[in-house]
Amino acid sequence: MLPATLQTRVVIVGGGPSGLLLGQLLHLAGIDAIVLEKKSREYVLGRIRAGVLERGMVQLLEQAGVDKRLQREGFTHDGTIIAFNNEYFRVPFSKYIDKPVTVYGQTEVTRDLYEARESVGAPTYSNAEEVSINNADTDTPSVTFVQGDTRYTINCDFVAGCDGFHGVSRKTIPDDQRKEFEKVYPFGWLGVLSDTPPVHEELIYANSPRGFALCSMRNASLSRYYIQCESNDDANRWSDEDFWRELKNRLPQEFAEQLVTGPSIEKSIAPLRSFVCEPMRWGRLFLCGDAAHIVPPTGAKGLNTAASDVQYLYQAFKSYYHNNDSAGIDNYSATALARVWKVTRFSWWMTTLLHRFPGQSDFDLRVQQAELDFLKQSDEAQAAMAINYVGLPY
Ligand code: APR
Ligand code: PHB
Repeated sequence: MLPATLQTRVVIVGGGPSGLLLGQLLHLAGIDAIVLEKKSREYVLGRIRAGVLERGMVQLLEQAGVDKRLQREGFTHDGTIIAFNNEYFRVPFSKYIDKPVTVYGQTEVTRDLYEARESVGAPTYSNAEEVSINNADTDTPSVTFVQGDTRYTINCDFVAGCDGFHGVSRKTIPDDQRKEFEKVYPFGWLGVLSDTPPVHEELIYANSPRGFALCSMRNASLSRYYIQCESNDDANRWSDEDFWRELKNRLPQEFAEQLVTGPSIEKSIAPLRSFVCEPMRWGRLFLCGDAAHIVPPTGAKGLNTAASDVQYLYQAFKSYYHNNDSAGIDNYSATALARVWKVTRFSWWMTTLLHRFPGQSDFDLRVQQAELDFLKQSDEAQAAMAINYVGLPY
């Protein structure tokens, strides 16, 4: 194994949306960073993920100069449909807050970020293996990794752990220095991507006696649908016909009749959990995005909460390097966690409101139906949902 030593200011572990967005913002601020990604570019871009962007995320992408395609191809939504008991109502976000959301595939966000990083020639190592973060609790941290037949050592000032839930960063914080909070939901989401026109111009979140369903989209001819399924279900057990039939059974008849079905081009099951790690900093290591927290996809908050972490961390590094001010760095964990917990609560609330839970008692069902009725009838309840769904301020 050949040795090689590199030097940079910030090592970003993880080349997903968090890592690439932070890298692009730091590059534009003249702060050197190296991105280490475990997988290949093709693998990263092959992931199908959610597609609702808060205004804050869109503004960050504008700031990063990565919003051209998004502005061209993204759909602006200022409301969503909530369906239950074969009826439905619309929550008009713009009636309560002038902050529409943008529907644009997360895979496309990652693609745009990869292309931006490649265009500026910023150092990115894909297929980076055996990444190890060393001496993060000292003033001289370093990161080692293997690529091909070379073992690299990067001497740096800071490490941004943007390597997702299964990454190495969170586990670098000693067990006795971190506290993890977790809630595992007793169901998963079976998702299908299809070359079919969306069933409706806005998203439909449905609570039906057979379970939750969601109708979303990527563009005018590419739709994304989900149905609640058993946690241990197998996507291969579901034929397309079975999926479409079950989805129709969970939608109000008006939408079920309009649904255009077709062959699935992707079919997969995702588990649902809420997870938060405290703190989001240890010495010169900072956790960002899924490395620090996971939300159930019901509120479409995964990428958007990664974005708020990135914004806080980017501003902290910029203040440190440009103004010799470490306040942002010192306050990062508390500032990020304050918003993370509000988003965690909202994602839990939407998940609890819209799913059928195993063993739900008749009392539980009446309470759930009453909450849906209250949301349907109350401007204040809808305002609270709208303010959270479109994105809390950073
Ligand atoms: N070394 C280097 N890279 C790693 C390592 C490691 N040890 N472990 C994981 N990675 C990479 C993964 O391959 C992935 O590309 O880190 C990246 C983490 O990306 P995400 O899991 O997407 O997390 P994040 O960038 O925080 O994005 C958060 O986007 O992907 C969605 O569900 C996610 O909505 C959430 C949002
Ligand atoms: C999606 O389009 O994949 C999507 C949209 C909204 C959600 C979750 C997923 O809440």
